[in-house]
Amino acid sequence: MINLIVAIAENNAIGIAGDLLCHLPNDLKHFKEITTGATVVMGKNTFFSLPRRPLPNRRNIVLTTDTEFTYENTEVAHSIEQLYTLLNEEEEVFIIGGGKVYEQFINAVDKLYVTHIHHTWEDADTFFPEIDPDTWQCVSTQRNEADEKNPYPYTFAVYTKK
Ligand SMILES: NC(=O)c1ccc[n+]([C@@H]2O[C@H](COP(=O)([O-])OP(=O)(O)OC[C@H]3O[C@@H](n4cnc5c(N)ncnc54)[C@H](OP(=O)(O)O)[C@@H]3O)[C@@H](O)[C@H]2O)c1
Repeated sequence: MINLIVAIAENNAIGIAGDLLCHLPNDLKHFKEITTGATVVMGKNTFFSLPRRPLPNRRNIVLTTDTEFTYENTEVAHSIEQLYTLLNEEEEVFIIGGGKVYEQFINAVDKLYVTHIHHTWEDADTFFPEIDPDTWQCVSTQRNEADEKNPYPYTFAVYTKK
């Protein structure tokens, strides 16, 4: 099963200057709960944006064309074809970003875990592709209001292929 997990703002933005759009501790907790114990696949930029890397208690695989890339407790794939040779069928896999990687996987994954952040960042520089309503159906939503620690309202949504 290949899943994708992402936090998207209202203008489809996902990143700014190599970082996330905002700090939403409840979303980080949600991400940890969903991905712990699974395999996470990410692009090199996302890997180096992580404050703590590799992500603990998960199998970490980094996509890069850099044949010199090595990092402790981290696997590397130099192409999507090579990535698939590293995965086995019963493994739970999450594509965790960033923009370049999401673009290549949106049509290949089975399920999307999307946190919709109800705010717009005009100066964002990285975006998520359109979630095509002809392809994806939203099967669950859970809206959460802003609070003292989480500055914007957000909705946890799950999409499956129609
Ligand atoms: N909102 C969210 O949920 C979320 C999640 C993750 C990331 N982000 C944000 O997204 C931004 C980073 O995204 P990004 O688009 O700049 O970079 P990225 O997708 O994280 O990484 C891109 C790099 O990955 C490697 N790569 C990608 N596809 C590959 C392939 N098929 N084969 C081999 N290597 C491949 C390439 O590295 P080489 O150049 O070394 O070949 C490429 O330059 C940051 O702002 C980050 O905070 C947001």
